[in-house]
Amino acid sequence: KRCVSLISTDRPFSAQTNRINEFAPTPERPFVLGLPTGSSPIVTYRALIKLVKAGKLSFKNVVTFNMDEYVGIPREHPESYHTFMFREFFSHIDIPPSQVNILDGTALDLVEECNAYEERIKKYGGIELFLGGIGEDGHIAFNEPGSSLASRTRIKTLAYDTILANARFFNNDISAVPRMALTVGVATVLDAREIVIIVTGLRKALALSKAIAGVEEGVNHLVCVSVVIVYPESNPLPYRKWTVSALQNHPWTLLVADEDATSEL
Ligand code: GLP
Repeated sequence: KRCVSLISTDRPFSAQTNRINEFAPTPERPFVLGLPTGSSPIVTYRALIKLVKAGKLSFKNVVTFNMDEYVGIPREHPESYHTFMFREFFSHIDIPPSQVNILDGTALDLVEECNAYEERIKKYGGIELFLGGIGEDGHIAFNEPGSSLASRTRIKTLAYDTILANARFFNNDISAVPRMALTVGVATVLDAREIVIIVTGLRKALALSKAIAGVEEGVNHLVCVSVVIVYPESNPLPYRKWTVSALQNHPWTLLVADEDATSEL
């Protein structure tokens, strides 16, 4: 409730907010929240931290599941998503660390790590609200174009354009960006009872338009569309698939966009 109302304080989401208002988390029945990394959620995290510090919000009865993590860099690495989440959010709120779940990209058995993550989500009764961002290529979490709509938490090779986009976090050194990640699947995201996606900036405008305005294409994840984007040094793809359009199949998804991101609509 608080996450949602924070994002849109003066315009509550009618039915959705009313439904969530009824939900009072307890230690036995915690609120299960899916969380992203990246620059998109930072403003939200800062606002939530302020509320916690002002005593208006508590995460004591919240369990979180992060969307993804790089493979092969230790948790202590400054650019691991584990480090990011504690630096930007968890260290500043009152969530017990035992209630924080983040995939371990250095686990000895990565497949087992992914399967156990899905099981843990199930054990909590599924995710109530998934807060997310999207990549410029329309990925959600690290579900790159072409990811199966039925996909679950798994290992994923990153698309070249994602590696390029994320190089900014690795001193613009493309070679330092991990090539693989663990990520929740598209089906894991779609299983959440609500999804809120934050989309900001011109660079996301095409992905946003493909997510919601490809009327003749529908869920263009399934139907290849004729958009040609040529990235330097990558293979030009004659057809693109936009994972984010899979959200059209979800009954309670809200996309929160700034004006720049809407420029292709
Ligand atoms: C990464 C993450 C995604 C995130 C995306 C957008 O690729 N794996 O979960 O949504 O970046 O990041 P930003 O918000 O910095 O644009």
